[in-house]
Amino acid sequence: MGKLFSDAVINDVLDRSNIVDVVTSYLPLKRVGRSYKACCPFHPEKTPSFIVSSEKQIFHCFGCGVGGNALTFVMQYEKLNFREALEALAQRSGVPLPEPDKSDFERSKDDLSKNLYSLYAKAAQFYHNNLMKSAEAKAARAYLQSRGIPKETAQKFKLGYAPQGWDTLIEHLKGQGVNLSLIEKSGLVVSKENGGYYDRFRNRILFPIIDLKDRTVAFGARVLDQSLPKYINSPETPIYTKGKHLFGLSVAKDAIREKDKVIVVEGYLDMIVPFEAGIKNIVASLGTALTFDQIRLIKRTTSQVVMLYDADLAGEHATLRALDLLIKEDMFVRIACLPKNNDPDSFVRKSGAEAFAKMIADAKPIFDYKLDLLLLKFDAGTTTGKDKIVREMLPTVKKFKNQVTIFEYTKKLAERLKLDEKALRDDLHQVEDSETREVTQEFESAALKNFKLTEIPITERMLVKLMLEEIHLVDQLRTLIEPSDFMEEKLRKIVQFIFDFFSQGKTCKPHEMMTYLGDEEAINLISELATLEIHDCPNKEKLISDCVRRLKRDKILYRCQQLHKEIETAQAQGDHQTIDRLLSEYNSLIKQRSLFHGDACSQKKPR
Ligand code: UTP
Ligand code: MN
Repeated sequence: MGKLFSDAVINDVLDRSNIVDVVTSYLPLKRVGRSYKACCPFHPEKTPSFIVSSEKQIFHCFGCGVGGNALTFVMQYEKLNFREALEALAQRSGVPLPEPDKSDFERSKDDLSKNLYSLYAKAAQFYHNNLMKSAEAKAARAYLQSRGIPKETAQKFKLGYAPQGWDTLIEHLKGQGVNLSLIEKSGLVVSKENGGYYDRFRNRILFPIIDLKDRTVAFGARVLDQSLPKYINSPETPIYTKGKHLFGLSVAKDAIREKDKVIVVEGYLDMIVPFEAGIKNIVASLGTALTFDQIRLIKRTTSQVVMLYDADLAGEHATLRALDLLIKEDMFVRIACLPKNNDPDSFVRKSGAEAFAKMIADAKPIFDYKLDLLLLKFDAGTTTGKDKIVREMLPTVKKFKNQVTIFEYTKKLAERLKLDEKALRDDLHQVEDSETREVTQEFESAALKNFKLTEIPITERMLVKLMLEEIHLVDQLRTLIEPSDFMEEKLRKIVQFIFDFFSQGKTCKPHEMMTYLGDEEAINLISELATLEIHDCPNKEKLISDCVRRLKRDKILYRCQQLHKEIETAQAQGDHQTIDRLLSEYNSLIKQRSLFHGDACSQKKPR
């Protein structure tokens, strides 16, 4: 993690952001003794295992193992990067952030992005000028006219035209003083096998993808005729990741906010043409099913989505795929159905904006959409048909978070299929298992990771916990143990970190340290250790010295076991020199071991 801000600034923000308040602003917490509890927002659960400690300024979920401080919570919950989360917390708590203090790496990464934005701005301008003015773009202008796109619209969307030539963009950019290595990184050129480059887009109409800060980050490029591929798109770059942007969002965002609703279509022209006909709250997902990032992007402005995909099989699949994600993200989703053989662009041109608006108003809730689809596919008059429909519908019903909604939909399903409502409700509970199995698939690995953590020798865990708690003992411990004494890699890393931190004269408050660790698993481990309570331990100094002794002993034991195996191998190979060396190590270890004998900490033997 690059260091953008000084420790003082980060800790100041942390100090003023009480984790209990921060978490409470996202989910309700219940006070239990000295801590707070909730159902974990990072994995599905019914009984709360998510703990927030006000005293330690840490959260930890004993269900899925996730943990951290106020900052990492915001990062994970809001899917923000470090800097964005810090800015969000700073704003909440009213701490003004100074200009970031960047590492060379961060600075060069930032510089590259900055240079790419500037290159894309130049390219967009070049393509746009071409379209608007050049003689060569006459056919392109005529094509756009034929698709119902006048000059003003082309201006608003900064549409462009890439000329026929092989290097018109390259030459233009070079002429503007852009260096070739940057042009290469932009993805707007393609390298030739025998050296040199040529323009990626030639004789195509360009649709710039523009981010919320009005910067062009990529292009989609359409042919002027029936040739294939119809579109080619710019590749991913440091400033563009597929599925993270929505075409048209920058021009549509105000209308989306105003109407508190967004219409999502697939293609560039499906967005532009209705927009120009007056349907202003519209964006395009660009040929894919809506992604998580796109949903998050929408969620900043509205929670109401109308999906309007082509009335073909691909469109149907894209819709159904996006639905699960949308329900999970607690969005209100409806699906509008286009008449067969129409896309939003052709429909609005044929039938007009009013018919379009009506179609949007008639959009069906997910439940009805899916049920209608299934009723067309299966015969609800037969038992097998009913069974198939129920099997498809119940998992969808289950996904809703609101119990009342689930209740209503189950009732409705029973009515439509003429089934007994109570029996259906029983089925729904059964679905729960198979459904959560699907979800827990993802979590099983997290749980497994968590399980592994608890497998770490208890002595090692205990020592780290004590270091986190009794900061005054760290100095003494540094003279007794080294990170390499720890068998578990994560703990080794944490111990190294604590020692480094300490030697720089910093405090080792767990919640402050977390910010710098930059390793999710290590952070989770710290939050787990910090949240666990040590019971019945009046004398922590004694506990520490016991643990140190046992740590050393365990390490020797482990090495002895290794030596045992190595000696056996050497014996099998008749390698006497090696046997001698290993044996002498073994013997000296056995001697050392007796030094560490005696009662280790009051804990039981590790499993
Ligand atoms: P469509 O085939 O529906 O294209 O693909 P369209 O936008 O309606 O284009 P027109 O009306 O024929 O001009 C929908 C979207 O899928 C992506 C584009 O983002 C397109 O807008 N796509 C499609 C590609 O990326 N490449 C392709 O070859 C085709
Ligand atoms: Mn189309």
